[in-house]
Amino acid sequence: MKPVLEIQKLRRNRSDAQEGALFANVSAQITEPSMIALLGVSGQGKSTLLRMLAALDQVDEGTIRLHNVSQQEMDARLWRMKVCYVAQQSVMLQGTIEQNLRTVSLLHRIPYDDKLVKQLLPKLGLAHLELGKSAEQLSGGEKQRIALLRSLLLKPAVLLLDEITASLDRASKEMVEQVLGEWHHQEGTTIVWVTHDLEQARRISKGVWFMGEGTLLENCATAAFFEKPATELAQSYIETPVPKEQPCLS
Ligand SMILES: Nc1ncnc2c1ncn2[C@@H]1O[C@H](COP(=O)(O)OP(=O)(O)OP(=O)(O)O)[C@@H](O)[C@H]1O
Ligand SMILES: [Mg+2]
Repeated sequence: MKPVLEIQKLRRNRSDAQEGALFANVSAQITEPSMIALLGVSGQGKSTLLRMLAALDQVDEGTIRLHNVSQQEMDARLWRMKVCYVAQQSVMLQGTIEQNLRTVSLLHRIPYDDKLVKQLLPKLGLAHLELGKSAEQLSGGEKQRIALLRSLLLKPAVLLLDEITASLDRASKEMVEQVLGEWHHQEGTTIVWVTHDLEQARRISKGVWFMGEGTLLENCATAAFFEKPATELAQSYIETPVPKEQPCLS
């Protein structure tokens, strides 16, 4: 079986104002469909790495291969159909929710799967939505789930999720996790999921990629990572207490 995703010695330079690399020597291989949690403190380049994997951001050095085909060899539009990025801040296009969902089929010339949309909306906690409503009026959490659904319609080989449940309440978050767990098993989709929610990382992933010190510092099984990470940096990252909720002031 061909490896799903291989990344070799990836490097991303900092923006013009700053010299040096944001990260370098990032190498990893996903040999069979998996669910990976991509962890690391803010500003390490997790979103940037996902965007590079999705051919949305420049690769300064290194190679990315999907099923043994490198990103440079494949048409970018085709690549983005197979390796889909769901952004931290989802952007809705002008128009209705349904028009937003239909965009991917129009863009990629594939049939719009109305049945799948109707199946997934309630599972994502979105049964109440009227698809004829303007997408711009959706709440942040609703936009994230519609953006996720928009990507699922493409049935990508690799789904790159960037903190997509960050603005969801607990019940909705667990619904999304459930949908994605089932999707992974049924479709064999590989998921790389950036999250700062360590309990979520434990629940959903089989493996952890931990970014730190300008590279991919750890790449191991989830249980092993949380039991005993190999580096002090990761140890302190998982030990950092979650800030207590502010007391109610009124
Ligand atoms: N388009 C850009 N141009 C220049 N610098 C950028 C750009 N996008 C991100 N950066 C910078 O690159 C660094 C990494 O950003 P990135 O968003 O990838 O981090 P992150 O690990 O996803 O952080 P967070 O956990 O806060 O989302 C940051 O210093 C950020 O300011
Ligand atoms: Mg980010």
